[in-house]
Amino acid sequence: MKKKTMEHFGELIHGGDYNPDQWLDRPDILEEDLQLMKKANVNCVSLGIFAWSRLEPEEGAYDFGWLEKIIQRLYENGIYTILATPTGAMPQWLTNKYEEVLQVDETGVRNYPGKRHNYCPTSPVMREKTRQLDMRLAETFGGYPAVIGWHISNEIAGNGSDGSCHCALCQSAFREWLKEKYGSLDKLNAAWWTSFWSHTYTDWSQIRSASRRGENLVHGQTLDWKRFVDSQQLDFCKEEIKAVRVHSTLPVTTNMMGFFKPLDYFKWAKELDIVSWDCYPDWHSGADELRTAVYAAAAHSLMRSLKKKNFLMMESTPSVVNWREMNRLKRPGMHELSSLQAVACGSDSVQYFQWRKGRGSSEKFHGAVVDHRNGSDTRVFREVSRLGERLEKITQQTVGTCNRPRIAMVFDWENWWAVEDACAIDNNLKYQEVFQDFFRPLWELGVDVDMVDMDGDLEGFRVVIAPLNYMYRKGYAEKVRRFVEQGGCYITTCWSGETDDTDLVYTGNHPLEDVLGISTEEIDVPDGYCENSIQYHGTDYRIIGLCGLVHAKGAEVLAEYQNDFYKGYPALTRNFYGNGEAYYISSINEHQFLKHFYNDVLQEKGLGCGLQVRLTEGVTVNERSKPADEDGGEQKVWFLQNFNRTAAAVELLKPYQNVETGETLTGKIEMQSFECIVLRNC
Ligand code: GLA
Ligand code: ZN
Repeated sequence: MKKKTMEHFGELIHGGDYNPDQWLDRPDILEEDLQLMKKANVNCVSLGIFAWSRLEPEEGAYDFGWLEKIIQRLYENGIYTILATPTGAMPQWLTNKYEEVLQVDETGVRNYPGKRHNYCPTSPVMREKTRQLDMRLAETFGGYPAVIGWHISNEIAGNGSDGSCHCALCQSAFREWLKEKYGSLDKLNAAWWTSFWSHTYTDWSQIRSASRRGENLVHGQTLDWKRFVDSQQLDFCKEEIKAVRVHSTLPVTTNMMGFFKPLDYFKWAKELDIVSWDCYPDWHSGADELRTAVYAAAAHSLMRSLKKKNFLMMESTPSVVNWREMNRLKRPGMHELSSLQAVACGSDSVQYFQWRKGRGSSEKFHGAVVDHRNGSDTRVFREVSRLGERLEKITQQTVGTCNRPRIAMVFDWENWWAVEDACAIDNNLKYQEVFQDFFRPLWELGVDVDMVDMDGDLEGFRVVIAPLNYMYRKGYAEKVRRFVEQGGCYITTCWSGETDDTDLVYTGNHPLEDVLGISTEEIDVPDGYCENSIQYHGTDYRIIGLCGLVHAKGAEVLAEYQNDFYKGYPALTRNFYGNGEAYYISSINEHQFLKHFYNDVLQEKGLGCGLQVRLTEGVTVNERSKPADEDGGEQKVWFLQNFNRTAAAVELLKPYQNVETGETLTGKIEMQSFECIVLRNC
């Protein structure tokens, strides 16, 4: 039999973070856990995530015996292990003996020992202690049939730390990084526009990290500091990967955090075998669930897109978190729906934080599969077990399939950093939120979307949507030009193509002026001063954000502003270029506009929801498929999900089979609140 790994597990993974290191004096708990895991259809756990002080109780004294026993006992019971390197939190002996492992904040103050995710990524001591431990773990466990992959560290740069360390070691590493990038101070000064406010650097040693106590208004510098922090954290992670690979060929991952601003996950994914992430949407928080559902779908899609491959949902809560102001329980049904949503978007797992609640410290009331009392006789345990059974039922139809969108959206981390730092017309602009608003109508139409960054490959996509691409990274404009020339459809918005990748403003034409067929002039955010709207195909749509004032230079005007001094300016244009076309949306409009516009574009291109269905608001579809191969025909599976708090009717326009029950469904069907139906062709 082929060795199981977390990348090729052969079935959907169901399990989660397990912390037996908190219960080593209670062998009865371990035995009880084994029974409960089997009852809940758990087939995998993640171990050792915060176990450094148990694995190396004293400097250089390693003790893996307890872990070995647990891994074996689990395996005897059919449960596999994803093993972590424990650098997410440091042991007391390390932080107390070696001060340099602790981060220094932007005011120059060094942290005390404690908390987590707060090591200095440059510290040679931290790197060496980590290397020693990781190598030993890999040497000991890398060959175990029970161990299926490496979980490097934990939520790197998370928990409020943002990953930056301003210590002397990091300052000097930053300077080296800059020397490598620019070669000379003249080039650096030019790229950073330091003649502004007389801040020209005359010696490398003068350069420091971006800080609110010092320089944070030289945008090129701030941007490079963010790039450096990201790359230094990644470099540390790469060292960890290198260390485990000395003795192990198992796949590696690190648990990401979706739309997490400090780390450019497109770069990170290149170093990993499989992407995994921790998913904690704020269910039941608004007037409805839709915004949250859209956020989760976008984040799952982003995680899938990083490697254009299935990913793992490494953590999620089975019931409640404990770190928001108010922490609501997941209401009945939401656990199953939100877990299946992950699978619908390409996850090959549903994993939890945490298996069992601890008795003390800050996560004792965080949701878990097993509560402090009542064993399996709890609502949460029953929902988790039921989900486990459902995952088993859909495994065969699902494993080996993935979402294969023909539409891509450009999401770019460096652009995110730059656009929110621009000091321009709207200083509250939230790139990720606007991006999500541009994603939402596609979610409503039941159409899957991939995400690419500006380095990403556009080939194979029919439509590329690029909202707020303020900063054009090197090569991006040329790539888009080629894409359109060869027949692609490109949709972009105002506040795009403003600056180059050092955040210097373009002084000539818009870099895609020829492709877009427009020239840009001013940008406004009327914000309460006037009500304005655009008219598209006879319908008026309200403007709710930025308004770009542009001129058509060959493009056809499809919508115009209706009021105020910008009445008559183009609000939506289309330009044919080569074999393709490019649309420019000048303003940020109420959400119905995009739905109308996208629908028109998709219809024209013959793209749309792959399931023959008439959807209703709050119900969406994701499609996973496997192209036909010699073993058989094309395999497709659809996840029809109702995020409404009430029942909702949809209409299947041809018969489909319910994968779990075998029943044939067609015509009008009523979906229960928070129901997910998994379908295949009859
Ligand atoms: C993160 C961490 C976990 C735990 C959960 C709580 O995802 O990785 O260790 O703290 O949050 O929600
Ligand atoms: Zn440091």
